[in-house]
Amino acid sequence: MSELTTPKAVNQQRRISSLFRYIENLGGDRPWGNLLDTGTGVKSLEWITTLPTQSWTAITASHSMADRIRAAPRIHVRTQDRLLVGNWVNDSLLTGETFDTVLVDYLIGAIEGFAPYWQGRVFERLRPLVSDAGRLYIVGLEPYVAFKPDTESGKMIWEIGRVRDACLLLAGERPYREFPADWVLRRLGEAGFRMVEIRHFPIRFREHFINSQLDMCINRLTRFASEEVGAAMRQYVDDLRARALALNEREGGLRHGNDYVIAAEPMS
Ligand SMILES: C[S@@+](CC[C@H](N)C(=O)[O-])C[C@H]1O[C@@H](n2cnc3c(N)ncnc32)[C@H](O)[C@@H]1O
Repeated sequence: MSELTTPKAVNQQRRISSLFRYIENLGGDRPWGNLLDTGTGVKSLEWITTLPTQSWTAITASHSMADRIRAAPRIHVRTQDRLLVGNWVNDSLLTGETFDTVLVDYLIGAIEGFAPYWQGRVFERLRPLVSDAGRLYIVGLEPYVAFKPDTESGKMIWEIGRVRDACLLLAGERPYREFPADWVLRRLGEAGFRMVEIRHFPIRFREHFINSQLDMCINRLTRFASEEVGAAMRQYVDDLRARALALNEREGGLRHGNDYVIAAEPMS
């Protein structure tokens, strides 16, 4: 049995998302070289560790995310690889270093939690870290909480997103804030990058999404200032969960919105 057909390797292949597969296709024969994962997590690092990189450097602003990565059985760290906890607002983070491949995987939406109002500067901050012949890959989610959709599935996803954000706010936290692909393209140009490719991927949300988002809400209830509001919210969330799971069952998943992948290179 070859390395790639062992049960573990096959499992690993299945776990890699179609977005990462698309990036692999875009990369073609280009060497991955020294790779930087600018907003790391278990999913992106699990993928990166399957690539023939020279080295990888993974950044997170969150100590708990770093702990989760260290505990992930499929993430193998070689001596040349680094997992660092740091914040991109800190100008000294990786100063003077350059990378052949730079991945921005769902970083932009998460910045609001760690560096609010700073999203507009992210690509100018990353530009000196991308080598002149290097490539940047951005994965993002088109905002879906701000606009009321027309379809039944869309309205359900919208309602879940709004109640999740309301619970985070009432518990004193800052929710994620997604940015659309056309905003990213504008900022890339201003920061000195040119787009090489862009593709949107329609999303079908499933039971795992419904439960994880609503559990996030339930876990925040004890931090609400008002117990009455917390109790009423619990009833509303329980009802929403039942409605969402029933619709998910009927429709075979809730289709709504898009992820996007953008490949960009430094302008000469
Ligand atoms: C949605 S999560 C992880 C996505 C990830 N690629 C995965 O595989 O799941 C976003 C990551 O970006 C990091 N992040 C957000 N804002 C940051 C900032 N200002 N500086 C450094 N990391 C940041 C978070 O700490 C987290 O590790």
